[in-house]
Amino acid sequence: MKFLTSLALLASAVAANPILRTRNSTSNFHLKTTGADNENHNNLCVYGYHTGAGFNDAVLTSDVGTASPAFLNGTNVQFDLDTPFPWGLYMIAQSNYASWEPVEINTGYGSSDFSVKDGNLQWPEDQGFGGWLVCDWYHNAPQLFYLWKYYKPTIPSSCSKVQLSVESTA
Ligand SMILES: *[C@@H]1O[C@H](CO)[C@@H](O)[C@H](O)[C@H]1NC(C)=O
Ligand SMILES: *[C@@H]1O[C@H](CO)[C@@H](O)[C@H](O)[C@H]1NC(C)=O
Repeated sequence: MKFLTSLALLASAVAANPILRTRNSTSNFHLKTTGADNENHNNLCVYGYHTGAGFNDAVLTSDVGTASPAFLNGTNVQFDLDTPFPWGLYMIAQSNYASWEPVEINTGYGSSDFSVKDGNLQWPEDQGFGGWLVCDWYHNAPQLFYLWKYYKPTIPSSCSKVQLSVESTA
């Protein structure tokens, strides 16, 4: 409980600004979409869109200056958001029989077991990962999801399967 309380206190220090400010650092990378059939879903970078204290949806922008710089910590993907506490990439667990699930950038170290293969960010298939999906969604912008590999998705025309390429910001 002590940990939760201090996390909540830290999280409440985050300004209620939908776009988290980023830090100028050279060891970071951006997560950038490639390989979409819809050109509008390519060359977009992941950033944290504030949804509540300590919580962000992984939304996409064509503005590199808005993108959240990421770094690998072991097999975790974290974001450098200029706060004294960490932000991690979270693959939200499948719990609703849906064909795809949200990806969030929340306080903490995030989900583990990420890897980079051929320059693209991957998560293990045996954890249900069926690839990345981008959909025009309710923040009035494209948003990142991951496909749940055990269901066959009917992909709406507003969504595209993508790769997430790891592009150095240096
Ligand atoms: C930001 O990084 C660049 C190099 O990538 C450096 O030249 C510049 O001084 C940095 N700015 C600040 C405010 O640290
Ligand atoms: C990397 O993760 C470990 C926990 O697994 C944590 O103790 C450490 O502070 C993290 N490093 C950074 C730079 O956040």
